[in-house]
Amino acid sequence: MTDADSTALERDRAEALSRAVAPLEDELITPALVIDLDAVEHNIAAMVQRAGSPQRWRPHLKTTKQAVVISALIRAGLRHLKVATLDELELVLRTGAAEDVALDVLVAYPLQRAACRGALALAARWPEAQIHVLADSPAHLEALAAWSGSDPLSVLLDVDLGMGRTGSAPDRWRALEATPEGLSLAGLHGYDGHHRWTHREAAHAGYGQLCALAQAFLERPALRIQGAFELLTSGTHSYAHALAYPGFAESKEAPSPNPWLHRVSPGTIVFNDRRSKPAAEDLGLRQAAFVASRVISVGPGRATLDAGSKGVTPDADSRGSCAVLGHPALSPRRASEEHLPLALPEPSLESSLEFGALAWLVPDHVCTTVNLHREALWIRGDRLVGRGPIVSGHRPRAPLTEAQEARP
Ligand SMILES: Cc1ncc(COP(=O)(O)O)c(C=O)c1O
Repeated sequence: MTDADSTALERDRAEALSRAVAPLEDELITPALVIDLDAVEHNIAAMVQRAGSPQRWRPHLKTTKQAVVISALIRAGLRHLKVATLDELELVLRTGAAEDVALDVLVAYPLQRAACRGALALAARWPEAQIHVLADSPAHLEALAAWSGSDPLSVLLDVDLGMGRTGSAPDRWRALEATPEGLSLAGLHGYDGHHRWTHREAAHAGYGQLCALAQAFLERPALRIQGAFELLTSGTHSYAHALAYPGFAESKEAPSPNPWLHRVSPGTIVFNDRRSKPAAEDLGLRQAAFVASRVISVGPGRATLDAGSKGVTPDADSRGSCAVLGHPALSPRRASEEHLPLALPEPSLESSLEFGALAWLVPDHVCTTVNLHREALWIRGDRLVGRGPIVSGHRPRAPLTEAQEARP
């Protein structure tokens, strides 16, 4: 496809988005997050097919944070999910109960005492769900054992495969001889977010370390491992390495050649963003999340939008916070909190970006963009189909009301 063809397609898409929100013209306060549910369903189906089965994918919900998306994942057959915050945990448990399915949720964050108690309280409210937490180190494992309640708390050990953010190195975990009372050991978490799309060899070396540790653990009866031992790796930038790693391969034959069950955990691919281009090409992703923004000021050679760092990609790097759909020649300058100046390379662009005009932004980083918004508008093609709340942050807060949970 030529650049001109892809610009024409983007313009069509921008027009369809504008038609979708037209019924809200009088109340659409920008910047506003708009989610295309058709694109969400397309992306979920693409990942399920790439993974080979919904069982092989434990998506991280920190990207999407909305009941309507969790319901779409459930409809696609997913039952294993990953969260980072208590708000996300509450949302997923509530949605699983509303959909009448028993979910299996990993809180993939090294919980401290108060947060661990919060997670246990939520688990007690929705006992049909299976919850796991992450142990960061042998000392944290002991602490989790002390904080666990009357039922054994299920844990995955966080193995640092070189990312240097959380978890303990394989050698440190290797010294673990027994699972402390009060806990049960469900698997190993080796998130390799430091590897890019081209780092296959390095990624595979890390997976080798993870499998060697799992093998050693499966031979230790005092670890009391029961059921499928999970090896959980990889987000959007490395799932392809993990799915190509023979040590994780699934077999349709019984017994499986590998004594563990491997899953990948990309979350960004459900919405897609500019940072995820290789995965988007690999999976044929569609862009599902947009920020509707308006021109609030026009000057010589520039138009300023109302989506600053509080509207789109607060953690922008040198690539800028977003692209303007249908206007590849426009380069966003450095955003301030509420303002995003665009440099206009040709004066003719000034006419399409006149004062008050809608501009559709594709976030550079969709996870942090979603987290800025309290609400999303849901569309399908050029139709508005509903709106609903987004959970954000760790803070324990009042449960969602019925009205807030309204669906399309
Ligand atoms: C622990 C963990 N798992 C999974 C993911 C999902 O990765 P991605 O957002 O690249 O899809 C992340 C992302 O930061 C993460 O921190």
